[in-house]
Amino acid sequence: MSSDVRRPLISGNWKMNHNHFEAIQCVQKLAYILSKEDLAAVDVSIHPPFTDLRSVQTLIDADELKFILGAQHCHEADSGAFTGEVSAAFLAKLNVSYVIVGHSERRELFGETDEVVHNKIVAIQKHKMTPILCVGETLAEREAGRTHEKVLGQVRSALEKRSVEQVKSMVIAYEPIWAIGTGKTATAGDAQVMIEAIRQEVAKVSSGSAAAAIRLQYGGSVKASNIAEIMSQPDIDGVLVGGASLDPAEFGRICQYRLRPLN
Ligand code: PGA
Repeated sequence: MSSDVRRPLISGNWKMNHNHFEAIQCVQKLAYILSKEDLAAVDVSIHPPFTDLRSVQTLIDADELKFILGAQHCHEADSGAFTGEVSAAFLAKLNVSYVIVGHSERRELFGETDEVVHNKIVAIQKHKMTPILCVGETLAEREAGRTHEKVLGQVRSALEKRSVEQVKSMVIAYEPIWAIGTGKTATAGDAQVMIEAIRQEVAKVSSGSAAAAIRLQYGGSVKASNIAEIMSQPDIDGVLVGGASLDPAEFGRICQYRLRPLN
């Protein structure tokens, strides 16, 4: 079910790393490494911590960089008594375009349920931004043969009551939890099988046209050395990169995966 219209999307999730000074340096280095041709071939989104967003936005605007500004998280309400939280409305005002939602670290460490994740997707889309919905199974769930049940259940819950147009514009990142930050990567073939299953589920719960248009990423220990094989899979439209996105040289090589033939 692959289609030519899905532009590759390489996303760097910095998690709680890089203060705003380091963020500026990192984006400047990346801008130096990547050519116009590189950025014409792929979309690159950068997801720094909240405190860096304004600095990175200003840099992107001033230097007319082709990077897409992203956030890692938001609250579902527009405003209110939620000490420490940041709303989708505020992110939209900073020209944030993509917001990661339901990352396994948020689900596991901060108790985000499928229902909360769904509400956040509604808030992100209400403010005309693109959610990058993360789904994935634990090692125990995988070993118990429950991968499809868990992952496709997360997909169904997130897409509930979303229109075909809303689903088309979304991104889903399949991130097996056992592969995040561990150096273990799902084989490209395994990632393809699960991501194809996600596309089929989108066709079922939304429509064939939404399934053909939605961009599906793989995430979990992606590096310059494994990106080309991952991106060669027919249903994988991009990657969500954690640790390897912190180093501009490594992240630059990831974004330039098309220049390196598969070995
Ligand atoms: P990793 O993280 O690339 O460090 O495994 C991926 C993620 O959590 O999005």
